[in-house]
Amino acid sequence: MKLMRSDDVDYVKEQYATDNNLATRMRTHELYTEPKRDFTAWVLDQIAWRGDELVVDVGCGAGAYVEAVQARAHRHIAGDLSHGMLQTVTAPSRVNLDAQHLPLAGKSVDVLLANHMLYHVPDKDRALAEFARVLRPGGVLLAATNSAQNMMELSALLRQVAAQAGVATLPPVPINFTLENGAAFLQRHFARVERIDLPGALVFPAAQPIVDYVATSPRFVGGFEPADDQPWQILRELVEAEIAAKGTFRVNKLTGVFRCWND
Ligand SMILES: C[S@@+](CC[C@H](N)C(=O)[O-])C[C@H]1O[C@@H](n2cnc3c(N)ncnc32)[C@H](O)[C@@H]1O
Repeated sequence: MKLMRSDDVDYVKEQYATDNNLATRMRTHELYTEPKRDFTAWVLDQIAWRGDELVVDVGCGAGAYVEAVQARAHRHIAGDLSHGMLQTVTAPSRVNLDAQHLPLAGKSVDVLLANHMLYHVPDKDRALAEFARVLRPGGVLLAATNSAQNMMELSALLRQVAAQAGVATLPPVPINFTLENGAAFLQRHFARVERIDLPGALVFPAAQPIVDYVATSPRFVGGFEPADDQPWQILRELVEAEIAAKGTFRVNKLTGVFRCWND
């Protein structure tokens, strides 16, 4: 089977054709993350706001940051490669764009957001050069991403299911812009790059939200073909056994944000 990359153009197109998959994953994080935290507010609060900034959210997805941006600044453009994703976005300005070719004038943007999206961009240097080009002197890039160690208990669980079911897992798609390797990309385009980590956990009281999460992108997490029932049943049983023994099923998370600027 062909090994997939997180910046494979066809995979990204299929995964984000509509906001269905992303909405399920985001709801899972909202409902089950401990300690409870408003993640979008946490990301935006890594900088001091004046209120008159022009904010451009590249790879805005279904618009998770719209409300939090508008509470801090009134000039806001939300852009995404996927028309389907943009349909649900409520920002005043919505633009279909590719991070690798921004339709924006040089030195025009105060705050550029590129959250949980750089691992989907085939030419990251090209996108980062674009981000540096459009930012005003003193402007800031906030780029949130995950650690390569994020949610390891879920991958371990899926390997255990595969072993018991006697099936192969779909080869997981390793994300290729992480908290660990992201700084090396960013430092080629920004003089200042700071990494801020946010550890946490998903704490599940039942098996169904885990099944639903894995089903949004079995390939991404190393799951199974949706058509094959047996591994999904084993997945349920293993999670339920751990919940019976410990009260919950815990998956540790490590996410964070890079804050980058040129002097
Ligand atoms: C995981 S979602 C993140 C959405 C949002 N930033 C958030 O944090 O909720 C990734 C988004 O990046 C978009 N995307 C992928 N490649 C892109 C590119 N080259 N240019 C712009 N958007 C892109 C996808 O369509 C998808 O909506």
